Parts: sequence; C-alpha cells; structure tokens
Amino acid sequence: MRHANAITWHASEIQKTDRQARFQHKSAVLWFTGLSGSGKSTLSVALEKALFERGINTYRLDGDNVRHGLNQNLGFSPEDRQENIRRIAEVSKLMIDAGLLTLTAFISPYKEDRAHAREIVESSEFIEIYTKASIETCESRDPKGLYQKARRGDIPEFTGISAPYEAPESPEITIDTEQQTIEEAVNTILHYLEVHEYIPKI
Ligand code: ADX
Repeated sequence: MRHANAITWHASEIQKTDRQARFQHKSAVLWFTGLSGSGKSTLSVALEKALFERGINTYRLDGDNVRHGLNQNLGFSPEDRQENIRRIAEVSKLMIDAGLLTLTAFISPYKEDRAHAREIVESSEFIEIYTKASIETCESRDPKGLYQKARRGDIPEFTGISAPYEAPESPEITIDTEQQTIEEAVNTILHYLEVHEYIPKI
C-alpha cells in the first residue's frame, strides 16, 4: 500500500456494530453487475425504494452518476474500469461502516475486479446480483441509444460490442430480467435479505 508507513489508522469510538444495532439491520453492499441495459439501475432504484419504505437505511451508487463526480477522470479502458470498481468498492466499504445497506449499479465487466471488490469488504458483506439479459435483448432495449452508437463505431470499447463482459459464475442472486418483472425481482432480493438475516422479516 502506498504511503502506508506514514499513515496511522485512527479508530472511532462508535463501531459498525453499534450502528447496525441502532439501525436494526445489517450493512452490506448489494453489488449489481450486468450489461448496459440489463436492468441494474432500474432494479436497484426499485429495490432501494422498497427497502427505504421498510425503514432500512440505504444508499445507492450508480455508474452514470458516480462518473460525473468522484470518477469523472476515468474512461472505459480495462485499467480505468478497474480503478472505477476499486473506488466504488472502497466507498461501499465506508458506507457499510456507516451502517448502510448500499446498492451499487456498475457494469463491472471483469471477474477479477469484482473479486477484488469482494475482498475489499468482508465476504458476508458482498452480495453479488447478476442482472441477466442477452446482448440481443439489451441492444433491442437500448434505453440510451448507446448500442446504436457503438455499432456505428462512435463509442469505442463498448461492453458487449467491442469490449468483454464476463458473467459471474456463482453470484449470490441471479435475476433474469427477460423473465422476471421488476416487482418479482425486488421480492426475490428482499426474500434473500430476510432469509440471510440482513434485514428483519415483516
Ligand atoms: S464499468 O464498466 O466501469 O463498470 P460503469 O457502470 O461505471 O462501467 O458505466 C457504464 C455506463 O457508462 C453505461 O451505462 C453507459 O451509459 C456509459 N458508457 C459510456 N461509454 C461506455 C462504454 N464504452 N462501455 C460501457 N458503458 C459506457
């Protein structure tokens, strides 16, 4: 770690466990991964609303938003995507420490980068959710018109067209967004969180 020898950790008197006890739920990151147009943002928005309505303290980080601020100096080369994901994992770690159930919606196309993100937080705090949809489906949805531009060659290194997407092999949850409605998907994830005691049952 750079500069590590010149920096000391200053512990807080309030711990993550204190915040979790007050909030009456665990903190973790719900890490959505999938192609552009696969439903990460839509589903994470709907899920956050459902969680918030149940009194869960949440925060959502979204690729398009974070790239306007914190990560505005990053592009889409493999190196920049790696740094994008590393920073998001570190921010998620802070949010988890703050006691929040954090939702992230980033393509995060590389297995290795997602594995590294998982290592940055505790393993029980990383819940990988794969929003599964074929490239054909995502391209036909094309909510931002980006696939069309990528096909024309106007966007280089576009995931699924001219850059790879490595699907997760054993995500905690897979949502087939070609089959499940948003409501069904939200219920699937809420159920997982209840059964694994991240949130109380209602
Ligand atoms: S990631 O690969 O580094 O995880 P991230 O989720 O932050 O990507 O950003 C993806 C979003 O950026 C897409 O939803 C799309 O709107 C936009 N975008 C712009 N250029 C590209 C590109 N070359 N590949 C993928 N998405 C792109």
